[in-house]
Amino acid sequence: MTNPRKNNKLAFFLMVTAIVVLAVYGIACFDALLREGLRSHLLRAQLGGLTSQTDTIIDVLRLVLFSSLAYLVVVALNTLVFDLILRLRRGFEAPALVRNVFSIVAFMVLFCLIFNVVFPKVNLGALFTTSAIFGVILGLALQDTLGNFFAGISMQADRPFQVGDVITVGALRHKGIVEEITWRAIKIRTFSNHVVLINNNTAAKEPIEVCPRGNLNACFVVFNTLYTDSPAKTIHVVREAIRDVPNVSRIMAPVVRIRNLGDSGVDYEVKYWPEDYTLHDDTDALIRQRIWYAFRRANLNFAYPTRTLVVERKPRPGHADKDNAVILERLAAVDIFAPLSREETAMLARAVKSHVYAPGELFIRAGDAGSSMFVIHHGRVSVQLREDGHTRSVATLGEGAFFGEMALLTGEPRSSDIVALEETKVLEIGHAAMKQLFDTNPVLVETLSHIIAKRKQGLAASAHPMPANPAVSAGILSSIKRFFTPPPPRSAAHAPPNPDRVTPAS
Ligand code: CMP
Repeated sequence: MTNPRKNNKLAFFLMVTAIVVLAVYGIACFDALLREGLRSHLLRAQLGGLTSQTDTIIDVLRLVLFSSLAYLVVVALNTLVFDLILRLRRGFEAPALVRNVFSIVAFMVLFCLIFNVVFPKVNLGALFTTSAIFGVILGLALQDTLGNFFAGISMQADRPFQVGDVITVGALRHKGIVEEITWRAIKIRTFSNHVVLINNNTAAKEPIEVCPRGNLNACFVVFNTLYTDSPAKTIHVVREAIRDVPNVSRIMAPVVRIRNLGDSGVDYEVKYWPEDYTLHDDTDALIRQRIWYAFRRANLNFAYPTRTLVVERKPRPGHADKDNAVILERLAAVDIFAPLSREETAMLARAVKSHVYAPGELFIRAGDAGSSMFVIHHGRVSVQLREDGHTRSVATLGEGAFFGEMALLTGEPRSSDIVALEETKVLEIGHAAMKQLFDTNPVLVETLSHIIAKRKQGLAASAHPMPANPAVSAGILSSIKRFFTPPPPRSAAHAPPNPDRVTPAS
């Protein structure tokens, strides 16, 4: 399809060329006639003093007309070389600055030639070099222009950005898509569709942030939640919500992470890589919208920048009972506690403390001392061993499973690392609560000693499993009993003398 604007420009160009050619032709053919006509006109107008200048006036007119023709030739030549030969034939898009330099140099050369022809007696070079005042005037007038010109050339040589890239310039942070780099300025189109022209000179002095076209440039969207909302849940919900937002790169998966623990809530950021950076404003907005809806569905809350008055009330009996009942059910479902009576399990439920751990958090470290065991309320953990700088997963434990019993019951250091695989809530059972149960449930000790023996085997040889060895369980059983049974009180005969005790005289 033909472009009407281009057609108009071409028609205008042809019309101007025709007029100038006619004028040049006229002045060349009717030179003598013109001079004579102008002289008699000046005399008639009683400007006789100017008749000696007639030739100069006509020569200046010739210079102007020839120069105009030269300008039109340069424009045509520029189009021929850069649009027809280089762009259409070779597919090379020359930068605007190169085209401008080409035009300026070509015009200057033609102008000097024309000047020499029109004024053969005037030495143009001498005119420029010997006139100091002219030089100063020209220098001052062209100071900015030349600065822009050379800054433009150095930018073209460096090529820090190209047409189509998004740039942010200087302290005023002009941000937009580069549309053109001319000998004077960089033209950018902002995301509000405004055109901003930045002088090359200014741009050369300012820091410029470049987001190249075709590069995956990161973008950030921030949001926040109340402190009561779980980070693991928030991150999961947001990651799912933005997964298929258009323009979010599939090559680099978006990252959702905590950015700050703010005054009124937990601040998060979504870091994503748009496929087309120039559309990132729309993508940011869509991501925010998806987050809002996802929060609604998942019962998450945005934090307002408000002051929160926290009124702490003692838990209402009903509430505490509800929480306790859930813990009781969890403990009752753990197979090792099956032999316990309902009252014993209820007593245990009151004694436990609950804790929550983040995904990936290491909360038992091999070699540490430990005096409690844990039941998994929600989530999953991995039992891991570190060997020669490598980590080996020995087992994965889920809801209702327990761990940490080895150190608690035998007094030995923790045998392995425990790492949360997802957000995990555990119920901690301390030494005192366990001891109370052991006193009334000898079966529990026996069951646990078998489990510990089996787990120890798993730790020692998960690569080459060995058959269960009853002797090992028996050994563990007696060491648990020893650890949990306080040493018998020393007999009076062996007791150290008590200096405070006064023995009555016989
Ligand atoms: P403890 O040694 O106190 O701390 C690490 C815990 O990992 C350990 O108690 C066990 O509860 C658990 N553990 C060790 N080995 C295994 C295994 N083979 N299978 C399941 N759990 C294990």
